[in-house]
Amino acid sequence: MLFVTLTLLTLLPYVTCKPPHIIFIVADDLGWNDVGWHNDAMYTPNLDKLASNGVILNSTYVQPVCSPSRNCFMTGYYPFHTGLQHLVIFPEQAAYLPANFTTLPQKLKELGYVTHMVGKWHLGFLGGYDFRFNTTVFHPSKGEYSAHTIASRAIDVINAVDPDAQPMYLYLPFQSVHDPLEVPESYERIYANISTKSRRTYCGMISALDEAVGNITSALRSRGFMDNALLVFTTDNGGPSYTAANNLPLRGAKTTLWEGGTKGVAFVYSDTLLKKTKYTNTEMMHAVDWFPTLLTLAGGKPDAGMDGVNQWATVSNGAPSARTEFVYNIDEIDKNAAIRVGQYKLIEGSPGAFNGWTPLPPMLETVVNEMFPPYQLFDIDADPTEHFDIADQHPDVVKRLQDRINFHRTTAVPANYPLPDPASNPKHFGGNWSPGWC
Ligand SMILES: *[C@@H]1O[C@H](CO)[C@@H](O)[C@H](O)[C@H]1NC(C)=O
Ligand SMILES: *[C@@H]1O[C@H](CO)[C@@H](O)[C@H](O)[C@H]1NC(C)=O
Ligand SMILES: *[C@@H]1O[C@H](CO)[C@@H](O)[C@H](O)[C@H]1NC(C)=O
Ligand SMILES: *[C@@H]1O[C@H](CO)[C@@H](O)[C@H](O)[C@H]1NC(C)=O
Ligand SMILES: *[C@@H]1O[C@H](CO)[C@@H](O)[C@H](O)[C@H]1NC(C)=O
Repeated sequence: MLFVTLTLLTLLPYVTCKPPHIIFIVADDLGWNDVGWHNDAMYTPNLDKLASNGVILNSTYVQPVCSPSRNCFMTGYYPFHTGLQHLVIFPEQAAYLPANFTTLPQKLKELGYVTHMVGKWHLGFLGGYDFRFNTTVFHPSKGEYSAHTIASRAIDVINAVDPDAQPMYLYLPFQSVHDPLEVPESYERIYANISTKSRRTYCGMISALDEAVGNITSALRSRGFMDNALLVFTTDNGGPSYTAANNLPLRGAKTTLWEGGTKGVAFVYSDTLLKKTKYTNTEMMHAVDWFPTLLTLAGGKPDAGMDGVNQWATVSNGAPSARTEFVYNIDEIDKNAAIRVGQYKLIEGSPGAFNGWTPLPPMLETVVNEMFPPYQLFDIDADPTEHFDIADQHPDVVKRLQDRINFHRTTAVPANYPLPDPASNPKHFGGNWSPGWC
């Protein structure tokens, strides 16, 4: 009896401090106005429920496109510090996340986590057919939709891991809702009253993603993960207007430095780990913050000098943000940059190819830097939709933010986007896109 009591007492502190399971879900190309908690016309009941019972993150920023945002989630560094600040990685291009950056799952592994990724990588070689189970090229059964493939593999992982034996990090970067615009008809039918075909399909894709998240959370719950789990949901960038995404009321879209390209839909959910829930958090966060936030939560220590900062107090308890500034991007190839300091946002050069408020015509605008003044200043608190350039009224603020961009520019590494390399041709690799050529 005495022995049992002592054992329980010794175990107790360990049990209560067990590192949590972390499930990090990334939607691809999901627009600001494309989820139920922003737009009543959207059918996303599973996401809505998690968001409304968790914390809706209303000022969480991402990069304007896929690869740079994924770089942030993986490393905690801005892409202008890893060479991935210019667009996505294209096929045949020996561009990649440099191997000397330790990724979040690598760090979590050191802390005893079992780590799994199911979904899209996009941080080195891609294009053509490049879908694998471990290292083996994988072909799902013909006609299976990717949201189902990813959910089903995620559930297999959840069923194979013992939640009491080891903490789990499950990274789920879905293909949904990136183009091509395709979805099983049953999801499209939900939006039968939308007259535009592309919008109807795109919305159906979102509802399929929502169902996948619902299935995954059910599996987590029935396996006992939810007693000690944090679920993060974020988009990788704003919605592209050319796939009928909708970022209203924000300006711009995917690929641009406007808020519509960079202010990402996001929330966190947990049964047990959040002290303050069921509200909209407006504190400033950036995609680079997830790395130090989650690593600290897991009991680790981020490296000094990382761009990301630990935001756990903000996320779990609504404390003021640990940052007052972030860099939207610095891209020497596009010759543009943007920074936020407090309420102010300074854009240098052209913000990108979509400059209106979605829905926009499904075409790329031709944009040159000369169409814009060299610097535009917006007060994002007073004018979150970027209607009023106030640079002329506030030359002092412009100067101060310019200095901050220039300071960060001195630390930037060159963008690493080499020309296409024929050695990458899938014909050398049994018809699949494969590593080993660069
Ligand atoms: C379609 O129906 C939903 C739900 O009834 C409604 O909220 C939405 O506004 C409708 N959309 C259109 C385009 O009529
Ligand atoms: C969330 O952000 C949107 C878009 O910028 C804004 O319209 C809305 O007022 C914000 N919500 C809160 C609670 O601040
Ligand atoms: C990785 O290497 C690059 C290029 O040498 C360097 O700029 C960067 O600081 C290194 N990063 C880390 C985290 O070691
Ligand atoms: C995948 O690779 C890991 C690491 O080598 C191994 O432990 C696991 O069993 C593999 N899984 C499958 C299904 O091949
Ligand atoms: C979710 O689970 C249901 C019931 O098993 C299944 O019919 C459906 O296809 C699943 N959806 C996704 C997106 O995985």
